[in-house]
Amino acid sequence: MSNKQFDVIVIGGGPGGYVAAIRAAQLGYTVACIDEWKNAQGGPAPGGTCTNVGCIPSKALLQSSEHYEHAAKHFGEHGITVKGLGLDLAKLVGRKDAVVKQNNDGILYLFKKNKVTFFHGRGAFARAVQGGYEITVAGSAEDTLVGQQIIVATGSNARALPGVPFDEENVLSNDGALRIGAVPKKLALIGSGVIGLEMGSVWRRLGAEVTVLEALPTFLGAVDEQIAKEAKKAFDKQGLKIELGVKVGEIKPSKKGVSIAWTNAKGEDQTLEVDKLIVSIGRVPNTIGLNPEAVGLKLDERGAIVVDDECKTNLPGVWAVGDVVRGPMLAHKAEEEGVAVAERIAGQHGHVNFNTIPWVIYTSPEIAWVGRTEQQLKADGVKYKAGTFPFLANGRARALGDTTGMVKMLADAATDEILSVHIVGPMASELIAEAVVAMEFKASSEDIARICHAHPSLSEATKEAALAVDKRTLNF
Ligand code: FAD
Ligand code: NAI
Repeated sequence: MSNKQFDVIVIGGGPGGYVAAIRAAQLGYTVACIDEWKNAQGGPAPGGTCTNVGCIPSKALLQSSEHYEHAAKHFGEHGITVKGLGLDLAKLVGRKDAVVKQNNDGILYLFKKNKVTFFHGRGAFARAVQGGYEITVAGSAEDTLVGQQIIVATGSNARALPGVPFDEENVLSNDGALRIGAVPKKLALIGSGVIGLEMGSVWRRLGAEVTVLEALPTFLGAVDEQIAKEAKKAFDKQGLKIELGVKVGEIKPSKKGVSIAWTNAKGEDQTLEVDKLIVSIGRVPNTIGLNPEAVGLKLDERGAIVVDDECKTNLPGVWAVGDVVRGPMLAHKAEEEGVAVAERIAGQHGHVNFNTIPWVIYTSPEIAWVGRTEQQLKADGVKYKAGTFPFLANGRARALGDTTGMVKMLADAATDEILSVHIVGPMASELIAEAVVAMEFKASSEDIARICHAHPSLSEATKEAALAVDKRTLNF
């Protein structure tokens, strides 16, 4: 047969797909990875949503905008005077683009290093053949491939409001939100989830007046209530205007901006005139162009590919991972599934522990957690002990000048096993790793309390929260 044959073909080169391809190649398979993402010049840009319009560029903008805010508002506290502070937005956004490119190039290098054959184009199922599936590639590369095992990792797309398509000029998805050309005077976001808070923070720090409209009456419903309350206090103080319990009405984009009709929690009609609107109301699984019908690949009513606990689809030899399947839409969840599937193909016992997947919101203060919230434990009838420790009493946080927030640990009342850790405060994204390791190793709160933590470090707050579970903090 003239078709190019591979042991494993991965469709999609985001964190789920490219990592699965590398792991499968490490295990000795011949592997192809097909990804259609194009950079501004039309060249390949593997890395998916995460690298191109998600995790990486948003963190680059969060970092730059935080530097700007520190210089404008907080350097004075350190006795540093700044005169003539300015903002070169083109350079700031250009730096973000350079960071993205480094990551794109890094993945292409990793493919070469691991002997993964990369195809730049759209992969689609053509038909089932003897011992596998025929996959067509259309784009910069035109080809027909045959793979014994297929891993689908086609990711997700931003969800639009009904009747309000993204024009990426005034009505922006995460894509447009990351490349606004001039700081808008007034910016609205619909949805105060993860993107709403991260993107809202970036543009507020750079000078926009930001209003976030959220349908739910509670702020960050998935986050532990005590932590969400503390975060909300900090965002209010920063001037991020968050309206809860709203109903969004008609949205009228014009040449000048966007007009948004909405009803507040009291039922009063309001209108918001803004320069730009970011819609961040969740994401939908993406199978556009994949042609799942050709082979009878089953999707659910949300458009997600139906998989079992092991990421097996309804078809033999076809797997799916990441945002295109059930579960949290997180890059590290996609990666873990990708690795596990490659290992399962090799007959190994790849495993993803959904109970220890950390969540991080990269605002200031950062919010991070692993495991169930206090509210969920109560609802599940679990008896627990709680310990909290505020960063206000942590020496390193005081030295940093960032004492907002706390570490909260919840442990089983009978066995003392750590059930969850919730953090709001500086570097929560890094601190949460200790909690994940502890939970993976089934540590008790006493284990953490007995472990030597460097002084002065933010991690001492985790140790003190563990001590607090036993009501014996040393520094508070
Ligand atoms: P994707 O990253 O979406 O990759 C899918 C790839 O497949 C894309 O390159 C796409 O072009 C390609 N593709 C699709 N169909 C085809 C086809 N038929 N043929 C060829 N190629 C195809 N998660 C975190 O964990 N941490 C964060 O900080 C974070 N920040 C985020 C910020 C924003 C603004 C957004 C939008 C998301 C963020 N996420 C974050 C979520 C994260 O980006 C996703 O969970 C992750 O990218 C999912 O990985 P994936 O491999 O499943 O899919
Ligand atoms: P989200 O699910 O985090 O938040 C969406 C919010 O919009 C919810 O609070 C919801 O109640 C609200 N909403 C829905 N419909 C609405 C409406 N019609 N009017 C007003 N509010 C409405 O989704 P988001 O922020 O779009 O992000 C998508 C996903 O991307 C996240 O769930 C996460 O998985 C991932 N992500 C992860 C990040 C991280 O890990 N740091 C950063 C950004 C995104």
